[in-house]
Amino acid sequence: MTKIPESIKQEIEKLVKDLSYHCYRYYVLDAPVISDEEYDKGYRHLKKLEEKYHYVLPDSPTQRIGAPALDKFEKVKHTEPMLSLDNAFSHEEVREFDERVKRFLKSDNEIEYTVEPKYDGLAMELTYINGILHKASTRGDGYEGEDVTVNIKTIKAVPLKIEEVDAPEEIDIRGEVYIDIREFETLNREREKEGESPFANPRNAAAGSIRQFDSSITAKRRLHLACYGTGFAKGVNFKSQWDFITWLKKARFPVPAIIKLANGIDAVIDVIKEIEEKRKDFSFEADGAVIKVNDFELQKALGIKTREPRWATAYKFPAHQGITKINEIIASVGRTGTITPVASLEPVRIGGVTVSRSTLHNWDEIERKDIRVGDTVVVERAGDVIPHVVNVMKDKRTGSERHFSPPEKCPVCGSAVERDEGGVAFRCIGLNCTAQVQQRIGHYVSRAAMDIEGLGEKNVELLYSKRLIKHFVDIYKIKKEDLLELPRFAEKSAQNLIDAIEKSKETTLARFLYSLGIIHVGEYAAKLLAKNFKNLEDLYHVKPERITELKQMGEKLAESISRFFNDPENLRTLESLKSYGLKISNPDFDSGKTGKRPFEGLTFVITGTLPKQRKEVEELIENMGGHAAGTVSKSTDYLVAGENPGSKLTKAEDLKINIISYDELLKLLK
Ligand code: IVH
Repeated sequence: MTKIPESIKQEIEKLVKDLSYHCYRYYVLDAPVISDEEYDKGYRHLKKLEEKYHYVLPDSPTQRIGAPALDKFEKVKHTEPMLSLDNAFSHEEVREFDERVKRFLKSDNEIEYTVEPKYDGLAMELTYINGILHKASTRGDGYEGEDVTVNIKTIKAVPLKIEEVDAPEEIDIRGEVYIDIREFETLNREREKEGESPFANPRNAAAGSIRQFDSSITAKRRLHLACYGTGFAKGVNFKSQWDFITWLKKARFPVPAIIKLANGIDAVIDVIKEIEEKRKDFSFEADGAVIKVNDFELQKALGIKTREPRWATAYKFPAHQGITKINEIIASVGRTGTITPVASLEPVRIGGVTVSRSTLHNWDEIERKDIRVGDTVVVERAGDVIPHVVNVMKDKRTGSERHFSPPEKCPVCGSAVERDEGGVAFRCIGLNCTAQVQQRIGHYVSRAAMDIEGLGEKNVELLYSKRLIKHFVDIYKIKKEDLLELPRFAEKSAQNLIDAIEKSKETTLARFLYSLGIIHVGEYAAKLLAKNFKNLEDLYHVKPERITELKQMGEKLAESISRFFNDPENLRTLESLKSYGLKISNPDFDSGKTGKRPFEGLTFVITGTLPKQRKEVEELIENMGGHAAGTVSKSTDYLVAGENPGSKLTKAEDLKINIISYDELLKLLK
């Protein structure tokens, strides 16, 4: 290894310090003092130095991205349990909370409280040891959560190092990970486009984003953090919540958007009103206000009642509900043909927003809630964003309400409709269904797919209606002259689109697989395929068993992928796409793998205890080009059996599969 000169060491340390400061200015204070370009320049320079000298500080901003995907989360015990909160649903109940506190403390004096918004997100614990972020875990059941450290590090507002204050020997800092309402809406729109079900509220979206095995997906989600509490701490002493929050701010942690001291319960209720008033301007979803006794000595005296502290309560804002009428139910057809019932409502104002549509999810839901056209319904903005029907006001029925049965034919193209096996979804099976085809093209060109700039929804619709594209293959047949004849195009815009199409031809296998719109194959599954199949052609005629062998690939997914790559029409389409000069590279496949690949094309399964950790052995196999599968099947090449082998051994014997020891595995390498 190159010996690192002192001057370089200092340069790296300074870069980390400066970049961390600018990260804080940008993501916590929302007040950057340098341009994005300057930041990027510094970042790239740091990365180069780190690589050259193999000197990477634990709080380097380069540590915020790129950890290999996990296959499970390790469990983490919280040193002190993470409690939940008692609720108050009216100002009256908030006053009762204050009375309980006073009674318990046998005090007639006014109590000092802090009031903060209650974030609709996911509770998290961050453990810092000697000032360095050591571990981040979810709340879980309050006693034990999951280790999501790599995912949390992708949140730019999370300090990797405690700065500006004397770092305690150890401290657990608690807070809420949340997603902004706008980001939540964008995410849901994308999910619906992909035929995935949308998240019901920002909380679920935050949870779904944190609980990702692949941290690169978390990194894309723009999560935020608001810190509001501490658990175990050694080497630091706080007098009060206010004192603690002041310390957090100084140490560059993001804290709640509002935190106020209130002396006595009347002052508390004023702050609650203020938060409720400002709530509509918050970029995040707040479902209430949290009221805490400020003084930590008093908190200690009050203690805990089962799982809730006596010193805090959550005032819940009234739910955003409204009453309106269902004018019509529409069957909307998605990219994969899934038909979703959508209610068209008599417009109603709910919490400052006009609501005129509501998803009914599926026909099971319609049946369960007995929803009919013409019904008067209670509508709620769940997590105060996507409206849904809570229930039907049956006493308002006049007898003229109509049942809405699943369509027998596709409402767009008239093709037959099938019910998903065992599922609740109905699907149009028409291959040429206009709705599906247009959405498939839209998906193919979208940013995470082939990324063809200038082919937005409107242009796809236009090109489709002018019969220039009937399928995404046709995109490559478009000529500039054709575009110039269309109303929306002029010389420059036409040329730009042609250039964008040309540029998009250079792509990766993961992107390309995602673009194809194979049912159930999202970005993550596409990436996983690319990691395990070198070329597109390797997937041709693939058997479902070969897919289920891959960790994290379920049967439904495997069936769908196999069906796609065994369909002669699809294979012709792929060949025809290639004939237009698509250059599909696969950096995922080669990532981390060296030249030596003696296990290329071989599938291994491990059973029993080996001299090395199972994960390590699996990595070894994969690094040598092999594939480590979880279950024995006909396509298994070797079963590596250790001590106390499980049922896999019998199965391998039945299938006459080569059974080898760990030593023999190592010999195979030679
Ligand atoms: S304090 C023992 N403060 O609400 C007190 N919690 O319903 C622990 N939450 O699990 C929590 N915003 O996930 C606190 N400003 C805030 C909060 C907050 C949201 C969540 C937190 C907690 C849940 C309890």
